[in-house]
Amino acid sequence: MTTTDDIAFSRPYMGEAEATAAAQTVMSGWIVGGPRLAEFEARFANLCGAKHAVGVSNWTTGAFLVLHALGVGPGDEVLVPSLTFIATVNVIRHVGATPVFVDIQPDTFTIDVDDARSKITPRTRAIMPVDQIGLPCDIDAINDIAAMHDLLVLDDAACAFASRNRSRPVGSLAMSTVFSLHARKIISTAEGGMITTDDADLAARLRILRHQGMSLSDFARHGMPPTVFESYPEIGFNFRITDIAAAIGLAQLDRLEEILMRRAKAAEAFTSALNAHPFIIPPNVPSHLVHNWQSYQVTVAKDSPLTRNEIMDRLHLLGIPTRRGVMASHREPPYAEIKANLPVTERIADATFQLPMHPGLTDTHIHRIISAMQSLS
Ligand SMILES: Cc1ncc(COP(=O)(O)O)c(C=O)c1O
Repeated sequence: MTTTDDIAFSRPYMGEAEATAAAQTVMSGWIVGGPRLAEFEARFANLCGAKHAVGVSNWTTGAFLVLHALGVGPGDEVLVPSLTFIATVNVIRHVGATPVFVDIQPDTFTIDVDDARSKITPRTRAIMPVDQIGLPCDIDAINDIAAMHDLLVLDDAACAFASRNRSRPVGSLAMSTVFSLHARKIISTAEGGMITTDDADLAARLRILRHQGMSLSDFARHGMPPTVFESYPEIGFNFRITDIAAAIGLAQLDRLEEILMRRAKAAEAFTSALNAHPFIIPPNVPSHLVHNWQSYQVTVAKDSPLTRNEIMDRLHLLGIPTRRGVMASHREPPYAEIKANLPVTERIADATFQLPMHPGLTDTHIHRIISAMQSLS
């Protein structure tokens, strides 16, 4: 049984406001494709500094939709880091394209732009950098090589809502960015996703494609004469997000500052304690980046007396839940036949693990986590 003393690894930060917003939407009659979604998209776009935001059922359907809308498909290669949640790679296969794995930078664990450049071939169509557990990738360098080689850019910002790069919000920096609103993300709608772009044509097409290719949304058709019929100019999908989810998302946006502040406070406490740790290295955040602390990931030093897994087991016995660091997707069976030389990815996947990180961590929790880390030897 869970008690209030138990430390959760991750926990959505929701309360009465989200419950009331959801209930009011249920009672309103517009539970999908209605005014709450329009409002959520407008506020989300504004916070990202993007012209358009398109809500979808999750990151995976959103990223698929962008690749599909941009015509990425069979015969195309897409550059992608292997060190990412496997969804990033799966969507490349969903559209029938070929993932080409790129290594990561050893200090930030985001995509190694030189390695990406060296893997460009005449078949390369797109590049999908990942804002690693909330830390923005080097998007300016990515955009430069994309412009030079005529590549599409889809920024996987599943974890990076409200992170910043040289003071600019993630979501405004690539031709398309996709966020996740899953339970472990900065704001959540339980399941959900958001695509941001400045391209009005792309946004309009994504709205049509998420709704079975229908030329007029239900909301737009609502006030029209009954003889105005919609058409279906192309094959679409059902990747809609509900207005109930959007209402929860709006309530979450009201809490955004508090969520970010509480996460940053926990991260600062962990980092200042770990700076003195003999064999656990805190995350490195370059000064031009703002991390939203979606996750807090540490690295076990090469000369550590304990292995990464021994440390995780010891912390578990002390009541501190942990998870391994970001996975290496190329090691999983669906991608194992792709022979990739990714030494940094493999080293980091084996040497990292994540501490509890969510806005509900109390001072007592933070203190217990730090004491447990300090007791390791
Ligand atoms: C980097 C990354 N990409 C994609 C996803 C997939 O997001 P969703 O579950 O909303 O499809 C996640 C989810 O954890 C993720 O961390």
